[in-house]
Amino acid sequence: MKDFREMKKRGEKITALTAYDYPTARLLDESGIDIILVGDSLGMVVLGYEDTTRVTLEEMLHHTRAVARAVKRALLVADMPIHTYDTPEQAVATAKRFVDVGAQAVKLEGGASHVAQIEAITQAGIPFMAHIGMLPQSVREEGGYKVKGRTQSEAEALMADARAVEKAGAFSVVLEIVIADLAEQITNAIGIPTIGIGSGEHCDGQILVTHDLIGLFPWFTPKFVSPEARVADEIRRAVAAFVDRTRAGGAVV
Ligand code: KIV
Repeated sequence: MKDFREMKKRGEKITALTAYDYPTARLLDESGIDIILVGDSLGMVVLGYEDTTRVTLEEMLHHTRAVARAVKRALLVADMPIHTYDTPEQAVATAKRFVDVGAQAVKLEGGASHVAQIEAITQAGIPFMAHIGMLPQSVREEGGYKVKGRTQSEAEALMADARAVEKAGAFSVVLEIVIADLAEQITNAIGIPTIGIGSGEHCDGQILVTHDLIGLFPWFTPKFVSPEARVADEIRRAVAAFVDRTRAGGAVV
């Protein structure tokens, strides 16, 4: 495992993307990404659910296995789905199942409220990535994907979350849709790297859902993403070309 704290100290930015299948994971790994996350965002961009709250442990394990077959050098982190870490005992049991299928670290959503689970996981010797700010598994209670840290009390709670997960043994923390000023303050206040998503440029690293980055889920792209490719358009173009060639009698298969 790379020393992410050292990268933070050196000011070297950490790169992270999601993957849910063998070819994508292999392409990311071969491209030199530092961290590959089997995110529960797979529920939306791969399985077609409305949000991540329907993703099951079995689905996550299935996709983590596929990704693990591809990854040779990046750190492979797996997301623990909702209600698989309600108690510290359940959190450790779930984390071990991910390790058994090839994950090198796990992530769950929550800060100070989940210190007992995080300590249990790290004390079991399993590297842990925290996730605070907007928590997609709570989207139903929250009533949408809302920016975090606008009010003084929210900002203080987030700073406390960041300090709590560091103390509990996390090796890094994802900051999701946290206002940029606060993300910068958190980044300066803790020793572990912050990995931002929609949280400005001052985090120690950045993570994105790969489908958003490459334009593979054109029906919804978060506002903070600037896609680097339009893969959905390429697929549509290739399919249309195949259909046209076949109907014209020119496709040889
Ligand atoms: O599920 C996911 O993909 C995530 C990241 C985008 C941080 O949690």
